[in-house]
Order: sequence, then C-alpha cells, then structure tokens
Amino acid sequence: MRQVGFAGSGPRGAALVTISKPQFEFLRETVRNRAAIVIEPGKEYLVESRLCPIAKEAGYDSPDSLLAQLMAAPAPAMVDRVIDAMTTNETSFVRDQHPFAALESEILPALIDARRTTRRLRIWSAACSSGQEPYTIAMLLDQHFPELRTWSVEILATDLSPTVLDIARNGVYSQVEVNRGLPANLLLEYFQRDGVSWSISDSIKRAVTFRRLNLIEPWPAMEPMDIVFIRNVMIYFDIETKVRIMTQMAKHLRTDGFLFLGAAESMIGVSDYFERHTSGKSVFYRPSEGR
Ligand SMILES: C[S@@+](CC[C@H](N)C(=O)[O-])C[C@H]1O[C@@H](n2cnc3c(N)ncnc32)[C@H](O)[C@@H]1O
Repeated sequence: MRQVGFAGSGPRGAALVTISKPQFEFLRETVRNRAAIVIEPGKEYLVESRLCPIAKEAGYDSPDSLLAQLMAAPAPAMVDRVIDAMTTNETSFVRDQHPFAALESEILPALIDARRTTRRLRIWSAACSSGQEPYTIAMLLDQHFPELRTWSVEILATDLSPTVLDIARNGVYSQVEVNRGLPANLLLEYFQRDGVSWSISDSIKRAVTFRRLNLIEPWPAMEPMDIVFIRNVMIYFDIETKVRIMTQMAKHLRTDGFLFLGAAESMIGVSDYFERHTSGKSVFYRPSEGR
C-alpha cells in the first residue's frame, strides 16, 4: 500500500491536534464541494497528519497556519494540493481477484466475440490511484488474449489526484507493492528489477492512458466503454453523489457492457440503470434490459 501524503500513523501515533474546529469544518466543506469526499467528524488527527508535509514544504510552521492562510485567501494551487492530500489511495495489483477471474473466463471471451467486426475494445479504470488496477487489466489482456494485440484496445485510467497519476505514469513500484497480490509469474514477465524497485515493462505502460478526471465535474466527451472499473471510490461519497455518478455512467457504458464496483460497494439505493450479475465469486453490473 502506498499512502500518498499521509505522514502520521493514526490516533496513537499522531501529534496533538492543533487545527481548530472552524478550520476543520472549512477543510471538510472544501473537500466535499470540490471532490465529493466526505470526511467524518472526529478525523482531525488524520487531516492534520496529511497536511503536515504540505505545510512544511510550503514553509508554514504547522497545518493550522496553512489552514488559516487558506481560509483568508484560498490560493487555487494550494487548495488543489490539500484536496490531493485528502484522497485515500490504497490499492494493489489484482485487488480482490474475482473481477479479474471473471474478465478472463467470461467477460473478455464474450466481448471478443461480440466485437469481431469492429475489433475495438474500450476499458476504463475510473479512480485508478497509482496504476495497479489498469496495469493488472493490461497484463491480463496481454497474457490471456494475445489476439487482442492486433485490435484497437484502449485502457483509459483516470483519477482526481495528480500525485498518484505521476506514480502511475512512472510505473515503478516498491518490493512491498509488488508483494501485495501480484503473482510471481506476472512479476517475472512484466517487471524489471531496478535496485530496490520494480519497473513495469514499456509495452504494458504504453497500453494504458492516464488522465486527470474529477468524477463530480462534467466528464469530457468519450466514446462509450465496454468495461468500467469504478472500485473503492464511491465509498467516500454521499448517496446523492453516487446517484449522480451512476446516472452519468449509464450513458457511458455500452448496452452490452460490464461494470465493476468495489467488494464492499453495491448499487442498492443508487441506480436502477444497472442489473447485478455474478460469475463464480465475482459480482458485476450490466445495463438493465429496456433502459
Ligand atoms: C481507494 S483508491 C481506489 C483505487 C482502485 N480503484 C482500487 O480499487 O484499488 C480511491 C481513489 O479515488 C480517487 N478519488 C477520490 N475522489 C475522487 C473524485 N472525486 N474523482 C476521481 N477520483 C477520485 C482517489 O484519488 C483515489 O486514488
């Protein structure tokens, strides 16, 4: 796991909280308005530990001085940095396994059959964090579906945080990160050791296009997707935001497409546009009939 911008270690490891109640409320409001991320009351220690490195780098003596300045004059670049630091970027290669098993056994064979004439596939990892999710998809395609090498396949990977997007584009991971979920055969085939880190191969890097996209801002014009991974991001949003995003998503997924949520997420109370399906232990969603 790579926790970007997180310098503390939780309530016990954190220093005394110095930010005031109004500063905490200002920060909660700003992050909610700009990124839809809901910071629960009582998370002052977390906020403060994530602000520490930014405050230090920008020459403030503490996070509360930084927040005082932001409240007085919110410089857009600093607001962006603060929001970036408030994102939780936990991810790993082959996270939760089952979605990738379903891609391999059922979904990609079906889509390859259905797209034989156009020979085009579009896959979107929305909220891709530091790249492990889209790179897992790219490795799976290369390993199990070599026929796709002559197709036009686009894997689009987007996130709100410029910091994680830089890491993703770089494609260099620590030993701990590759140990977390990545099977040894994939490590040997698609990574090169570089001192204490591992660099993903250029061919896999080239297969993924990374872009910044805030899911709560208007999405750019995009051709509809065949497969969408939007996992472990909506847990940070309130119900109205989830509804808005899934309503928009319904227009961006092909009528015979596939959508994955995180293992702890569901469409219950969020959208009727999608129907729940299972394949083995994997759960995914498809546009409802007659949508
Ligand atoms: C916990 S990670 C999930 C990464 C990956 N999808 C996975 O399941 O392993 C959540 C990601 O959502 C991103 N995020 C949070 N709010 C967002 C927003 N409003 N728009 C786009 N991405 C957002 C964060 O920057 C973070 O990288």
